[in-house]
Amino acid sequence: MESTVLREPFETAGLAHRHHDNAIAEEIHEVEQITAEVLKLEDEMEAIRPQHVQEPGPAFRLEVEDNIGILIFDAPTEKVNILSTPVMHELNTRLDELQSRADLQALIFLSGKEGNFIAGAKIEEIENISDPKDGAEKAAMGQAVFSKIDALPFPTIAVIDGACVGGGLELVLACDYRLARDSDKTRLGLPEVRLGIIPGFGGTQRLPRLIGIQRALDFILTGKLVDAQRAYRAGIVDRLIAKEFPPQRLRRLGVEFAREIRKPEARQKIADRRNRVNPQTLLLERNFLGRKVLFDQARRRTLAETKGHYPAPELALEAVEKGFSKKDIAEGLKIEAELLGKAIVTNVSKNLVKIFYLTEAVKKDTGVENYSGPIQEFQKIGVLGAGLMGGGIAQLMAHNDLPARMKDVNLAAVAKGMEAAARVFSESVKKRRLTPKEMQNKMAFISGTADYSGFHHVDLVIEAIVEILDVKKKVFAEIDNLLPSHSVIVSNTSSLPISEMANATKRPDKFAGLHFFNPVHRMPLVEVIRGENTSDVTVASLVAFAKKIGKTPIVVKDSPGFLVNRILGAYMAEAGRLLMEGATVEQIDNALLEFGMPMGPINLFDEVGLDVAAKVSHILENAFGARMAGEGMMDKIVESGRLGKKNGKGFYIYEGKNKKVDPAIYAFIPKTGKFDGSAAAMQDRCVLPMINEAAMCLSEGLVRRPADVDIGMIFGTGFPPFRGGLLRYADARGIDNIVGKLETLAGKYGERFKPAARLMEMKQSGKKFY
Ligand code: NAI
Repeated sequence: MESTVLREPFETAGLAHRHHDNAIAEEIHEVEQITAEVLKLEDEMEAIRPQHVQEPGPAFRLEVEDNIGILIFDAPTEKVNILSTPVMHELNTRLDELQSRADLQALIFLSGKEGNFIAGAKIEEIENISDPKDGAEKAAMGQAVFSKIDALPFPTIAVIDGACVGGGLELVLACDYRLARDSDKTRLGLPEVRLGIIPGFGGTQRLPRLIGIQRALDFILTGKLVDAQRAYRAGIVDRLIAKEFPPQRLRRLGVEFAREIRKPEARQKIADRRNRVNPQTLLLERNFLGRKVLFDQARRRTLAETKGHYPAPELALEAVEKGFSKKDIAEGLKIEAELLGKAIVTNVSKNLVKIFYLTEAVKKDTGVENYSGPIQEFQKIGVLGAGLMGGGIAQLMAHNDLPARMKDVNLAAVAKGMEAAARVFSESVKKRRLTPKEMQNKMAFISGTADYSGFHHVDLVIEAIVEILDVKKKVFAEIDNLLPSHSVIVSNTSSLPISEMANATKRPDKFAGLHFFNPVHRMPLVEVIRGENTSDVTVASLVAFAKKIGKTPIVVKDSPGFLVNRILGAYMAEAGRLLMEGATVEQIDNALLEFGMPMGPINLFDEVGLDVAAKVSHILENAFGARMAGEGMMDKIVESGRLGKKNGKGFYIYEGKNKKVDPAIYAFIPKTGKFDGSAAAMQDRCVLPMINEAAMCLSEGLVRRPADVDIGMIFGTGFPPFRGGLLRYADARGIDNIVGKLETLAGKYGERFKPAARLMEMKQSGKKFY
């Protein structure tokens, strides 16, 4: 803006100069004055204007010591090293130069950014690729560069400290040796499938050749990231560097390693270790039939996992299978590039990339528009209630090394909460993610009490006691007098009004909802509920806290059911009506599983607990009327003593790990009509009300933007990520189509399907959610 305003008089002035012959002296003088002033202003503006971004300098720097080259990757103007196209071009040129350096005896790859190795390829570069050929070409380009590393006439060594993922791992796989520092930041893996693509810079070819097919598939098909120790155990890393090793000396260490491997015995030792890592697997894999069994199993497992909704793992599997048998890796790389091209253009990949952007945006969001105020830190946590949620919350705190003081009505109840927390840690021990000693250390962060001892110095109290408003209010009034004045109080309630509870204290500004989902350690979402008087600092601090403990927060206004349970309520109510119309439990659950939901809605009733579901349904019906009505079905079932999975009996009967639908359940279901529709009709009946409800939530300002709805539904309910989110799905189907369907359903089944005003407006104006 400023520059346009300034340029105009400036250019006029220039013009006047050119025609000064015809101008009278005074006018010239005046113009010159203006010019001088404008120039002065321009200078001033220049001083305060942000400096123009400079042409980025080189990303790689070569140093040579004792005939050992050290190539330091340090992308200018970037916080992390990313393999963008310009960076790959530069690396390519560097490798051409290095190739002909007769003086070099080894090359070390090092990052110039402490604790940050290579974060992967640039995602923005793949999102618009719509032709498989372009995708394949991009992969081939990257492969060609990394193959030059592979072909260098001297040993290549990667010294890894920090994230080394995706293209980053593929780069180091092209090296001869990998050393990794066992720091908290070091992570290795090939997360491509999470973006709906496959590793395309050689990962599907080099990893199986290095660590065996089975192990490589475990990385490639799941996209999991592991720390340096696990990468060492898997055979990806040849030498582990202690956590305590100073990062500034990694260069030195690399040089020493390069000298060491000049000796054949040292090289042999590493080769021997690689062979030793998993001899059994190798035996199976060397044999053609063994391999076939292995790939068939992997394919079955993959399909069971993806239910055919995610093409990338299948394509990755194909790349490994077809490529592994090729003697010449170049042939395998060609297959990989083609399959990457196939994956990159799928809608699934486009949707997953968009979800990735949403999560990146959450990382940057403070939870309060344009917030630049302070953030309060919460170091010591009080947890009220040691039940299902309290135990889970205490475990989460301990997992994050935060001291948690858990309070319940008596010590026996507290002990139950401790046991629940210990069970979660034990799972990690079983999976070898934690040693028994580490578990002990974590558990030591949790202490218990039956009175409020210790609460006088907690910074944050998270309440998870019984869902009864009066009991909660009484407890809040009690602790309000006990807590330091800076402490924040949050309730984990799923249905009670935050503002009313806040008013039981003298600190409504420091009161909010922090709604975790069950099971706490597994569910990534947290709703931060903003009460009428919750201050910006409190909201922003809770958002920051939620991120610190590894959760994905969305800020939601205080309203019945908040965001996620309300939208889910509309879905569950309709599933209940399908039952009453005579659809079977299996028909309904299978239809929604087929849509991509992680479990069917009737199964979900059982998981949530039928008593809880009944209660929530009443609250939502009171608040929003008939569209949320459960028609009394659930009350009758609960009266019969069925509480769902927790007491082994709900719509399903649970025996050990098995469950089957209980035929006796139908006796409790009132018949209201006859449903003879298809699975697709059931899907529409359940899913469209969610879109409708979400549109209403947006109009009511419950959340700030459509992205919050999608984050909430994906991370809070497992809404299928391959669909990009609830509202992304609505956009893809077309608002016209959604409104049309809702109108038809409203004609057939009643008002509850009436399209929300916002949807009608969107239809009229041709707008989309995104
Ligand atoms: P729960 O029944 O498992 O645990 C409640 C605990 O609170 C019991 O151990 C009880 O002894 C204790 N308690 C009762 N009065 C107390 C008092 N005055 N002081 C201290 N402790 C007291 O209940 P759950 O399922 O853990 O729910 C707790 C809260 O979390 C509720 O507000 C619920 O709405 C909410 N919530 C529950 C979810 C779920 O899936 N169960 C999900 C999200 C939120």
